[in-house]
This record gives sequence, C-alpha cells and structure tokens, in this order.
Amino acid sequence: MTNHIPWWQSGTIYQIYPRSFQDSNGDGVGDLPGIIQRLPYLQWLGVDALWLSPIYPSPMADFGYDVADYTNVDPLFGSLDDLDQLVRETHARGMRLILDLVPNHTSDEHPWFVQARATRENPYRDWYIWRDPAPDGGPPNNWLSHFGGPAWTLDPATGQYYLHLFDPKQPDLNWRNPEVRQAIYEVMRFWFARGVDGFRIDVIWMLIKHPELPDNPLDPDWTPAAKPQNRLQRIYDQHQPEVHEIIREMRCVADEFPERVLIGEIYLPIEQLVSYYGSKLDEVHLPYNFNLLKLKDWHASAVRDLVEHYERALPAGAWPNWVLGNHDQPRLATRVGQAAARLGQMLLLTLRGTPTIYYGDELGMENVPIPAEQIVDPQGIRAPGWGRDPERTPMQWDDSLGAGFTTGIPWLPLAADYARRNVALQREGNRSLLTLTRRLLELRRSHAALSVGRYSTCPTANQDVFAYLRSDGTTQLLVLLNFDSQPVSLDMSSHGAEGDILVSSLMDREGSLDLASLNLRPHEGLVVALR
Ligand code: GLC
Repeated sequence: MTNHIPWWQSGTIYQIYPRSFQDSNGDGVGDLPGIIQRLPYLQWLGVDALWLSPIYPSPMADFGYDVADYTNVDPLFGSLDDLDQLVRETHARGMRLILDLVPNHTSDEHPWFVQARATRENPYRDWYIWRDPAPDGGPPNNWLSHFGGPAWTLDPATGQYYLHLFDPKQPDLNWRNPEVRQAIYEVMRFWFARGVDGFRIDVIWMLIKHPELPDNPLDPDWTPAAKPQNRLQRIYDQHQPEVHEIIREMRCVADEFPERVLIGEIYLPIEQLVSYYGSKLDEVHLPYNFNLLKLKDWHASAVRDLVEHYERALPAGAWPNWVLGNHDQPRLATRVGQAAARLGQMLLLTLRGTPTIYYGDELGMENVPIPAEQIVDPQGIRAPGWGRDPERTPMQWDDSLGAGFTTGIPWLPLAADYARRNVALQREGNRSLLTLTRRLLELRRSHAALSVGRYSTCPTANQDVFAYLRSDGTTQLLVLLNFDSQPVSLDMSSHGAEGDILVSSLMDREGSLDLASLNLRPHEGLVVALR
C-alpha cells in the first residue's frame, strides 16, 4: 500500500493579506474580486494553497482580527457570493483555500458582546471574561494587552472590567463556557460546508486562561529594547494545559470533513510548540513554526542548530513546517538584506516541511517606513515603534501609478521602490527572485525528495555553509547554502565525484559540478542532484 500524502504536507501555502493584495473597485483596499483576478498569477507561481487573513464583517479596529460576524464577508472585501466564487475558482485551478479563524476574541460590536455588556444578568454575559474592579477600583490583575496598556477595560454601565488580550475593541471570549465552544465549532462547520479547506487559527495558544487569573510575574530578562507590554512573563494568560482539550475538539470538527487542515498560530519555543500536534497527533496538523522567522542570528550555524533542534523535537509522525514572513513581523528582506533573503527563500523551499510564503516576499518586498500621521495599526498607535503597517503595504504588481494594486489611493503607502521591484519586471527577469521562487516551487513539485523526502544534515568543513540532503527512495538532492558574504570552496566528494546543479539561487548556472572542488559565491545557494 502506498502512503497517501495530504495536500497540506506536499504543498506550499501563500499568505494573502486581503487589504493589500489587489483592489478591484478603486477604493484603495484590496478585495475578494481582486484576489480572483490574480489567481492566474498564483497558479503560475506554483503555490498550492492560499491563506487569507480575515475577510469577515468588522469595524476594522485590528483590520479584521476584530470579527463582528463570523459567517459573512465584509462589504469592503465583497460578498459571500464572491467568497463562494473564490473557493470554486481556487479549486478549479488545483489550489486550496484556507481562512483565518479568530476564536480568542470578537469585536466589541459583535452581537454576542453587545448582549453581554447589556446587563450582568444577560445570558451572553458569561461568554466573555468579566471581573469586579480591584479594591482600589483598578483592573482585576496586572495583565497587559499585547498592543500595550492594561488587558482590562472598565464597562461603566455594568461596573465590571472585561478582559482583552489585544485591543479594547477585541474582548476575549470565555472558552470555559461550553456554549462559546459550540458556537465557534458551528462557525467552522459553516465554512467547511462551503468548501473551505482549512483554517489558520489566530492566537490558538491563548484561548484559555488560568481559572484564577493570577498576576503575571515580571520577566527578569526584559530590557527596555523589548516591547513594553512584554515586561511580564505570560504564564497565566496563555499556554494553559486545558487548551489542548479545546484543540482536540476543533480537530474532531475538522475531521467531520475530508482532507481539511488546521494550522495554529503559536509563538512558543520548540518544546512547547510541538505539544500542539497533540499527544496522539490529534490537535492541529501544523503548529506554525516561527522559530526561523524570529531567529536573531542569521548565520549558517544558528540556522542549522535550529533545524536540527526542531527535527529532533518533532513527535513521531508529526509533519514539520517553516515560515519566514507574515503580517505581524518585519519583512524578511528588511531583517536580513536582499542577498540573504534570496538565500532564505531557497532555504524555506528546500527544508523538510510545509512552507508558507508571505505575499510579496517572492519579490523581496521590504518594510515601508510609515509617516507618524499615517500609522493605522492599533499596535503601532498604542506601542510606538512597534507598528505592523510597514510589512502590510500593497502588493507591487507593476510600475503604474497605483502599482497595479489600485486605481485609487492605497490605504497604506506604496513602497518607494515599487517601480523597480514588481511582478511585471521580475516575471521577465531570468535571474529575479520571483523567477527563483517559481523555479524552486517547480522543483518541489517535480521532486518528491524535496516536497516530502527525508532530511539529513551534511557536515561541512566551512562554518558559513549550511548543507543538507533531501532524499526519497530514488533521488538524493544536496542543498548547499553559503550564508557568508565571501566566496567559499568546499570538498563534498564524500557524496560522489560529480553532481548536477538543478538551480543556483543566483539563477545563472546549471549543469554538472565537481563535488571535490566546489565553489559558492557570496550568499549563493545550490540544489544539486547527486548521481
Ligand atoms: C494574531 C494576528 C494579529 C492580530 C492578533 C489579534 O497575532 O496575526 O495580526 O493583531 O492575533 O487578533
């Protein structure tokens, strides 16, 4: 019997931030018809699944992560019919569609919260987390919002505080209430029944809090260089043991439908992260692995240590995944520079595990400086210097006035370099990052060794080179990544006398290679087929 490999293991995910991908009606904000127009591009690029950040009706206090109705589409993005059409057309092109599920909190304008705050006796009151003021009238404990400031806001009409781990307009749901659980599970069924292939689940590790809501201790390692809201250790407001039971329930809902995927947003160290696969692999299919994205030390040895650490920590049968960018973190090209970002793309697309590409990273899009008066991200407003607008700017399609993104005024400024860095130009360029990305995705499709094969580290004599083998029963591919800005020479003849270069990250050489005296240029990566 051959093993069936699910699409979310062999495939590549592409994250779309809908506000910034393609505007179809000139209002400066991207929308679903815009995404539909760009499906040919995504199919040409060769990705397998699209994950959309939230498209639900929302007051947009956190740009859709404040949901006012879980089973509809915000008119800004289009209609439910547009979503149905997007599902159909994505499927017709052989791709999958993943939505964002935001179960930790709703908008304060969600009817559940409107009810909950009406009176203390309202049946929805217990759907959220309410506490009396502390004796001095202040918040019930010292918890801090991830966006800065206290995690509690007083509701003057009913005289109690409600908890919000994010913006005051994002009250946290009470996951200890079974009605809340059932309500969210029904939301999942609603979208699965419409053909949606899975969910990326927002802040899944925060869903349930310690029952006593104790104060969090000060973090002894905190320095003023870090976010002010991180000065407490988040011991009691996240990663509680009971969260696993909830995730198992979510998994049961997903398993009512064939081949659906659950991906958990989890910022935790590796040992804790892997617990979200579930002790019987019965929780999320992919606990998002942000350890590469958060790696401070972008060097061959640090990356190698991380990859080995993660590979070792994975429970038997668990499928790995890798991420280099998302809508909450500075862009890869800004973190490491353009040359290293190109190598990073090769790393992402050749490691073992499902890769997620953040829109625009295939072009090397960079953080865009946002003038103070144009900051709109709630975190940027509440915690100055920590805004996320810079990594959310419009996709750079071409050199026209609105970058091919909009005919109107874009909701965030376009990058200054958009006329030089865009899809139209890079599609034509044989050596562009876009062409490299497409080539690597093509290699993943044509070589099971790359998409689903085994991984093993290859020792090298050079500290700056990270080398590994990807292999299935028939093919062995050697990946060599030079993290240094100097050329290096290597002897890899223990793997044979010669190999064939399938791709260089610089996109300018192919053909046979003498493994005994091999040269890599600064920041060059190679995928080599061994004979
Ligand atoms: C997640 C999202 C982020 C959002 C937050 C609150 O971290 O990725 O964008 O602000 O949750 O929903």
